Amino acid sequence: MSRGRFYIFTWGCQMNEHKSEGMAGVLVRAGYLPAEDPAQADIVLFNTCMVREKPVDKLYSEAGKIALLKEENPRLLLGVGGCVAQALKERLFRKSSAIDFVFGSSNISELPDLIERARRARALGRPGWVMAVDKIPDRLEDLPYLRTSRFQAKVTITEGCSNFCSFCIVPYTTGLLRSRLPGEIIAEVSALAQQGYKEVQLLGQNVDSYGKDLKNPQITFANLLRALTEIPIARVRFTSSHPQDITDDVIAVMGEENNICEHLHMAVQSGSNRVLDEMRRGYTRERFLELVRALKERVPGINITTDIIVGFPTETEEDFEQTVDLVKQARFGGAFIFKYSPRPGTIAFYKYKDTVPPEEKQRRLEILLELQKQITHEENRKRIGQTVEVLVEGPARHDGLFLGKTRDHKTVVFSSPEDLTGELVWVRVTDASVAGLVGEVTLPPLPSRERVGVRVEAHV
Ligand code: SAM
Ligand code: SF4
Ligand code: F3S
Repeated sequence: MSRGRFYIFTWGCQMNEHKSEGMAGVLVRAGYLPAEDPAQADIVLFNTCMVREKPVDKLYSEAGKIALLKEENPRLLLGVGGCVAQALKERLFRKSSAIDFVFGSSNISELPDLIERARRARALGRPGWVMAVDKIPDRLEDLPYLRTSRFQAKVTITEGCSNFCSFCIVPYTTGLLRSRLPGEIIAEVSALAQQGYKEVQLLGQNVDSYGKDLKNPQITFANLLRALTEIPIARVRFTSSHPQDITDDVIAVMGEENNICEHLHMAVQSGSNRVLDEMRRGYTRERFLELVRALKERVPGINITTDIIVGFPTETEEDFEQTVDLVKQARFGGAFIFKYSPRPGTIAFYKYKDTVPPEEKQRRLEILLELQKQITHEENRKRIGQTVEVLVEGPARHDGLFLGKTRDHKTVVFSSPEDLTGELVWVRVTDASVAGLVGEVTLPPLPSRERVGVRVEAHV
């Protein structure tokens, strides 16, 4: 018999999404069942993010909605975990009276126990104040992940970050870099391949720093990728890459004919050397553009995407123009562009005032968004006429159409006479928009490891 139903809200990065899969797995193992929406749940969990002010505000507004649901369902419990919990700990109880318990990023396996304790506290008329926020542990928690997809799997390879970029809260909420041992990762990916998964996504705040903490010169990100090329799984992708740590060896593995996908998410943050220095990013615009050139030359068909912050304190119009110029030169396949959000606790928060006015941040954001949209559209249109390998993710919004991703992480909407969800198919690209590619499946579906981006002929 079910012990109750749960619903999880997830904000933040893909590592947080994967942690939510761990929370779901722990609860299902303990006898709980997933609910379709929070109104049907007895337990709601918030897996929170603190990287900008917006997701933190969202947590409080959603907590207000849960307070209303509690009036309808007095059994309902709200637990808050993730990066905000890790940073604010018991202070969270003062922010919202709807919160029953707070748990740390390394206390996920304790969830069933925390829920029981919160229930007992409620029965005794003492709602709230159940906590478990341990200090950040040395090792990754071993969780029974309940993966949301049966063909694409996330695999964490590092936790934490030791970079301390001046604007970023992540090292404070997740701790210093901790790499998993290569044997553990290889075993996990091999098991996923055996279970029929077609794609794994390796996760870390900075995957290229993999192994630096293990003090063994043989344990590097490039060597890990090489080991994973031996596993019979069609696609291995990874995110995020830090320009400071990408080695020649990583570029070499990506350029070889193998299962490593031709997509690199590499945040530039700014095109101004002065701002990059204030951000403590550890590279210059020249080094970054050199990397982009090398990657495009040595990894045919690569799609490089990025993150940019506008309105970092002291960013002048000239600094911003440097960013615009870099975007024009790099011609990213896509970009996430953010307005600087001061984070208490970070170096930039104490060192600088948030000097760029909100309307100026907005103006710079819109200029870059428009420019990037135009570049993305132009780059996507270059793919018309190609036949690309697509991993089918499911039906699209329109009847008879399906959605999937290319190896280089472009979204493709295509027509197909049958539902091939979870299969690798070949799609002939007939049109392109800013959002991605449009096409039609070319039958029969061919399980192949051939490269995309360089193929022009239909594969039939
Ligand atoms: N580790 C990744 C890297 O350095 O490439 C970045 C991970 S961070 C979770 C994702 C993005 O959030 C960053 O690349 C940055 O653009 C943005 N970000 C981080 N702190 C921010 C802040 N205080 N204000 C605005 N954007 C921020
Ligand atoms: Fe934050 Fe910098 Fe670490 Fe990325 S590399 S998570 S931006 S501190
Ligand atoms: Fe956010 Fe924490 Fe990820 S602050 S971006 S959820 S590591």
